[in-house]
Amino acid sequence: MSFRHLIDFGDLTRRDWEEIYARAERIMDAPERYMDACHGKLEASLFFEPSTRTNFSFQTAMLRLGGTTFGFADPRSSSTAKGETLKDTIKMVSAYSDVIVMRNPKEGAAKAASLYSEVPVINAGDGGHMHPTQTMADLTTITRLRGSVDGISIGLCGDLKNGRTVHSLIKALAKFNDIKFYLISPRELALPEYMRIFMRENGMRFTEVTNMEPVIPMLDVLYMTRIQRERFIDPLEYERNKGVYILSRRKLARAKPKLMVLHPLPRVDEIDVDVDDDPRAAYFEQARFGMYARMALLMDLANQGHKKPEPVEICTNPVCSNPNCITQTEGSYLPALTKVIGGMECCAYCDKELR
Ligand code: NCD
Repeated sequence: MSFRHLIDFGDLTRRDWEEIYARAERIMDAPERYMDACHGKLEASLFFEPSTRTNFSFQTAMLRLGGTTFGFADPRSSSTAKGETLKDTIKMVSAYSDVIVMRNPKEGAAKAASLYSEVPVINAGDGGHMHPTQTMADLTTITRLRGSVDGISIGLCGDLKNGRTVHSLIKALAKFNDIKFYLISPRELALPEYMRIFMRENGMRFTEVTNMEPVIPMLDVLYMTRIQRERFIDPLEYERNKGVYILSRRKLARAKPKLMVLHPLPRVDEIDVDVDDDPRAAYFEQARFGMYARMALLMDLANQGHKKPEPVEICTNPVCSNPNCITQTEGSYLPALTKVIGGMECCAYCDKELR
């Protein structure tokens, strides 16, 4: 594998992904053969934000590989509540563990953690930014049920502005051929600029629409998402947009018989419950596939061993103006890292353009 930390799906090559997928399939087909693959290994699971699927699926993945897990699912029970920096938490936890799985409400938090960790860090969601292991669940589902990802027409529907699963999935699909995107969202919740720049830079074809019905017949995959209530600064903006897309049996009537409906879950109201029994609904299977994909990932990362991180300079002058960026809260020490996306200078933590 060519990577140590999994912060963004862009950290992987297509070959890395193919290796992980092939291993996930082998595990699915004979799980008992992998019962000791992480024997003696410890996964630290640091959930600074609520989670059911991701947290449980990482924990069960590690337990099924013969390893153990420890951590917290409520930051109030950690020293963060006493004012500890992310850097100190990570330095300490990485000394105890073999791999760190972290979810944090701040964009770029996983990247920041990786600078100080002695062990691989896996981003289990950083604010509205990225969620690469959900993408592994998504790609595993599409590949296992359809045979391949190349050549699909995919509709991404809902809160494309704040939906980190959508951003990660787009990053991953840049590595596949001939994908056609339909971006279905209200104008207010359209894909952020840094993701559009990424899509243009990678020559990805996309059509933006506000209404789902006319595009449904064209799709091989429909990826539904929830309007991300917790990310709205203005509650009225949420009120205006909640309930905007609801997939019903009636709407599915014009879809391809082989359409696959995916959703990272949790669902609020965007898919009617009677769609669950339609053979095209794959979202519960998707959650199960996610566990196997995470097992395949952990087998590699939890066995990489400890390595002291390179020293990084201390910077007290954050350059990013995104209020949700990790540099806003941990800016007293994080180095001011930048990167270029599509010719624009961007924050290397949260990817937002620097102005
Ligand atoms: C997603 C997340 O946390 O971003 N859930 C998940 O990981 N399965 C999607 C969501 O919360 O809407």
